[in-house]
Amino acid sequence: MTELTHRLPAIIDALAEQGWVVVDGFLTPAQITALRVEGERRYAAGEFHRAGIGRATQQQIRDDIRSDAVRWLDPIDRQPAELPYWANIEALQTELNRSLYLGIHEGEFHYAHYPAGGFYQRHLDRFRDNSARVISCVFYLNEDWQDTDGGHLRLWLDAEGQAEYRDIAPQAGRLVLFTSERFWHAVQPATRPRWSVTGWLRRAEV
Ligand code: OGA
Ligand code: MN
Repeated sequence: MTELTHRLPAIIDALAEQGWVVVDGFLTPAQITALRVEGERRYAAGEFHRAGIGRATQQQIRDDIRSDAVRWLDPIDRQPAELPYWANIEALQTELNRSLYLGIHEGEFHYAHYPAGGFYQRHLDRFRDNSARVISCVFYLNEDWQDTDGGHLRLWLDAEGQAEYRDIAPQAGRLVLFTSERFWHAVQPATRPRWSVTGWLRRAEV
């Protein structure tokens, strides 16, 4: 059993009760560094592309809405540095299905790189015409992040995404989970480049 196994019941309780949860130490510092180095290697190799908005067939690049570039993790061709992330996220998925009957059958995850000054305007992760995305998972790879570096994830807790919010720093090892259909959120500009692995636990499209 990994350390995470023991923490899963409390994580899932919090997610079930409030619809979101912040999990620190989701990987070890060495595992996080290896994953960020792998992301940087892929970025340097030109494997990232600017992220669009909208569904696959109608994707648009909108500089006024989001600034990140992304690279999908290949679930078939898993790199060694990615294995601890896959192992923990799959353990989480199994436990979510077992205790909350969420019917998740796959995950999709991408590396995301925001340049300094980058942002993502307030949005929901679930497309209007598609309910496949159940849980949003944002995992941060930024060592020694200071509050003054900015780049917080702003997560609105009220249903309209207008009133109450939390600002969550993109600190290395921190995993933020929230239900994709419910939570409005945004990425605030940072003074440094900002790395993450972001993804969604999905059920079959209905
Ligand atoms: C996203 C997103 C949040 C973050 O990629 O959809 O909202 O903190 N990311 O990077
Ligand atoms: Mn989002």
